[in-house]
Amino acid sequence: MQFIVHPSTVRDATCTVPGDKSVSHRALMLGSIANGQSDISGFLAGEDCLATLSAMRAMGVTIEHHAATEMSVRGVGLHGLSKPDMALDLGNSGTAMRLMSGLLSGQQFTSVLTGDESLTGRPMQRVITPLNQMGANIESFDGKPPLTVRGSFPLASIEYAMPVASAQVKSAVLLAGLFAEGTTSVVEPAVSRDHTERMLRSMGVDVNKSGSRTSLQGLQELQSCQIQVPADLSSAAFVMLAAIIARKADVLIKNVGTNPTRTGVIDVLQAMGADITMENPRLLGQEPVADIRVRSSKLVGGPVDPALVSLAIDEFPILFVAAAAASGKTTFSGIGELRVKESDRIAAMAAGLRALGITVDESEDGAVVHGGSFSGGTVDSHGDHRVAMSLAVAGTIAGDSVHIRDVAAVDTSFPGFAGCMASVGADIGPDRSASQ
Ligand code: S3P
Repeated sequence: MQFIVHPSTVRDATCTVPGDKSVSHRALMLGSIANGQSDISGFLAGEDCLATLSAMRAMGVTIEHHAATEMSVRGVGLHGLSKPDMALDLGNSGTAMRLMSGLLSGQQFTSVLTGDESLTGRPMQRVITPLNQMGANIESFDGKPPLTVRGSFPLASIEYAMPVASAQVKSAVLLAGLFAEGTTSVVEPAVSRDHTERMLRSMGVDVNKSGSRTSLQGLQELQSCQIQVPADLSSAAFVMLAAIIARKADVLIKNVGTNPTRTGVIDVLQAMGADITMENPRLLGQEPVADIRVRSSKLVGGPVDPALVSLAIDEFPILFVAAAAASGKTTFSGIGELRVKESDRIAAMAAGLRALGITVDESEDGAVVHGGSFSGGTVDSHGDHRVAMSLAVAGTIAGDSVHIRDVAAVDTSFPGFAGCMASVGADIGPDRSASQ
C-alpha cells in the first residue's frame, strides 16, 4: 500500500489519537499474570499489541475483547501460563519480543518467539545476556530471532548494569525478576520509559527506585486492576508537528500520556521554538496525562541535547522532519540506537528527506539536517511505521504531492492515521495510482 499526500491546510481542530502502545502491551502481559480480572480501556488495537494479545491467549489466558479498545483479561496468576502449542508470532514488535522473553524466562516450559522480516533482524542479545545469567536458557540465531526460551523456576536474582538505555531490556529483567528468589536490580545508563514500574505498582508490587537503580523482590503476586490507557504521545507527535509547521493552526489533542520519561519530544520542539502547552494535567491511574495544545510556530534549528535521546527515542523520525522545516541546521548526536529500530531510522529518514530536496549529513550515530523546503517526490518507508508517518507530515507542506511507498506498517501503532490527520485538515490517503 502507498500513501499520497497533497499539500494541505492544517487548521484549528480538536482531536484524539489511539492508545499508548507501550502501556497497552504491558496491560495485557501484566494483566495475564495477575490474580483476578483486569479491565482495560483505551487499548491500542494496532497490530503490535494484537500480536501480544494472541500470544497471551495462546498461553491459556482468557481475554474478552468487548470493543476495539476495551477488554477484560482474566489473570491466571504468576504461575498459571501454559505452554503454547506453536511458536508465538510477535509480528513487527520489538517490545512484545523483549518483554515476553523476560516473562517466559520464569516459566517451566519452552517457547519459541518469532516475528516478521524486520523483527527477525533486530538485536536480542541485549535481553538474552541478562536473562541467561538469571538461569533461563535462550537460544537465538547470532543474537537474532527466532528465540527459543527454555524457562526455569525459580530464577536467580541479579543486579544488571545495562550497557544500553532501554526500557525493553529493563522491563524484561524486571519481569524475569518476578520469578526469581531475592532482589533483582537494573541500573540504567540513562532514563528510559517507566511504564512497567508504574503498572507493577498499580498491581500492588513493591518496586524501588533509587537514582538509576530499579529493584524488585521476586515472587510478589500481582493484583488485577482497572487500566485506562492514555493516548500515545508518540502518535500525537505526528499531529503536533503537522500543526506546528502549518501556516496557521491551533490544535488540541486530548488525553495524551505525558509521563516525564516520554516527553523529550516536547522539550526538543520547544527548544526549537514550538508553541506547545499542556492543559488540564491529571493522572490516569499511575500515568500522567494532559490535553496538548500546539500552535503554528517558526522553528529554529540547533544542537539537540543528547540527554533527551532516551526520552524521545521513538520521535526522531518526526524530529528530523521538524529539523528540515526549521531555519538553520539541526545537529542530532548520540542517536545510534535508531539504526536498530524497526528500520535503520537514520538512513531511512536521511534518504526520505533527501528525496524531498533536503540536505542531510549522516554519521554513524548522528545526523545534521539542513533546514529547507520540501519538494514533491516519491519516498520509501522501509516498512517502518514511524518513517512512513513522518514523511507524510512533511508532505503536508511540500511543494507538490508526496508518494510514500510501503505504508502497511502504519497499522502497527496508529490505526486510522490518515483519518485522524484528515480531522485536522491534512490530505493523506491511499495512492490509488500505485501498482503495489
Ligand atoms: C518501548 C521502548 C523503546 C521504544 C519502543 C517501545 C517500550 O525501546 O523504542 O518503541 O515499550 O518499552 P527501547 O527500550 O529498546 O529503547
